[in-house]
Amino acid sequence: HRTLALLVAAGTGSRAGGNIPKQFRTVGGKAVIAHAVDALAAHEGIDAIHLVIGAGQEAQVRALLGDRAIAGVTLGADSRRGSVRAGLEAIAAAGGADRVLIHDAARPFLPGAVVDRLLGALDGAQGAIPVLPVADTLVRGEGDVMGEGVARDGLFRVQTPQAFRFDTILAAHRGWDEGREATDDAQILKGWGHDVILVAGDEGLEKLTYPQDFARAEARLASART
Ligand code: C5P
Repeated sequence: HRTLALLVAAGTGSRAGGNIPKQFRTVGGKAVIAHAVDALAAHEGIDAIHLVIGAGQEAQVRALLGDRAIAGVTLGADSRRGSVRAGLEAIAAAGGADRVLIHDAARPFLPGAVVDRLLGALDGAQGAIPVLPVADTLVRGEGDVMGEGVARDGLFRVQTPQAFRFDTILAAHRGWDEGREATDDAQILKGWGHDVILVAGDEGLEKLTYPQDFARAEARLASART
């Protein structure tokens, strides 16, 4: 199996506040994107890492990643879906792969055990994703008034990396209606008619999205060091 990681980092990360996209900010003395690259590179099942970045981010990314091995760099698009599509097309043009792990650069902490579970599930499926159960009570909001409650049984939070057979996710992306958005690639595979297997995710794998996520990540790293 040739297994590649596709790390998408072309977002502007406006919800995290500040001028620097969230994936380029520092936690524990290291850029978020560098944490993500190191975690992928550390897994022996992953052969190479492809990166998708935004226009004008080349120098910044090179400075943050130093001499880390990156097999290819592609320019992203206005949406995450478009950025992933661009990366998949670049990998295809460079010879393709058997399997691809599509991962958000804004998720710095990736346990190897999650990758093990994903690749294991892929032996019998076209796609697999890491998920966590929902612990909180869920309700709809009607303005600032509580609406209907939503049963949380059977609901999950979806993380990345998401693992796919390469040719299948490429075909699914090519077949997707460009006018419709998708916040992840599993929706696109499912829309193409394939089952997506759920495996256990990890609390530490959370995406850093809001300012408080960075503070929480710093605190977790500090307590892990003592
Ligand atoms: O914005 P969101 O949190 O969904 O972004 C998830 C990941 O997708 C981030 O790593 C971000 O850099 C990437 N992304 C991208 N191109 C976009 C939007 C987001 O590569 N246009």
